[in-house]
Amino acid sequence: MTDTTPSGSGDGTVNDERPLPETPHGSPAPTAAPLTLRTSPGGEAVTGNFYEQVGGHETFQRLVDTFYRGVAGDPVLSEMYPEEDLGPAAERLRMFLEQYWGGPTTYSEQRGHPRLRMRHVPFKVNPDARDRWLAHMRAAVDVLELPPLYEATLWSYLERAAHAMVNTFEE
Ligand code: HEM
Repeated sequence: MTDTTPSGSGDGTVNDERPLPETPHGSPAPTAAPLTLRTSPGGEAVTGNFYEQVGGHETFQRLVDTFYRGVAGDPVLSEMYPEEDLGPAAERLRMFLEQYWGGPTTYSEQRGHPRLRMRHVPFKVNPDARDRWLAHMRAAVDVLELPPLYEATLWSYLERAAHAMVNTFEE
């Protein structure tokens, strides 16, 4: 009986004496090495999570402080907040954002699971409220003057989250 099975797997990967493909420079193809993100070409390597990269607690504190100053002066939004003093609301938003981006988990320790959509049900979050919220948040993000990549990352999250929070289309 003749063995008709070709040697190896038949796809040329076994018992194949051909050399490995080479790069145009003549050296073997490199194996994947981890990429190092740098602040600028030749600049410092970026380490840490997003929370740390954007400046940690101080950055989030500035963000919510500016944001809530805007909210306080907004005739529609300021009416929605149950407490006269917006300080505690600012603190809850700051803790939530810090936790979301990899900072301390104080929000969940104090408030439990975020369940943000559920927590917003008592409030009339219509497109007008959303756009006002986003306008104050946009102004607050601008004040931070983050490098464009971080700014885009933060903003795209906030924009998506705000759209997801809409719970009524009633005027
Ligand atoms: C779209 C427009 C939005 C409106 C009008 C709105 C309005 C409100 C109001 C009135 C409260 C109650 C204030 C308080 O007692 O804390 C609240 C709470 C809160 N909001 Fe919003 N919100 C909006 C979007 C968002 C988004 C996009 C986020 C997250 C990225 C967010 C995060 C929070 C957090 C963390 C709390 C505190 C929840 C708790 O622990 O009780 N909100 N929001």
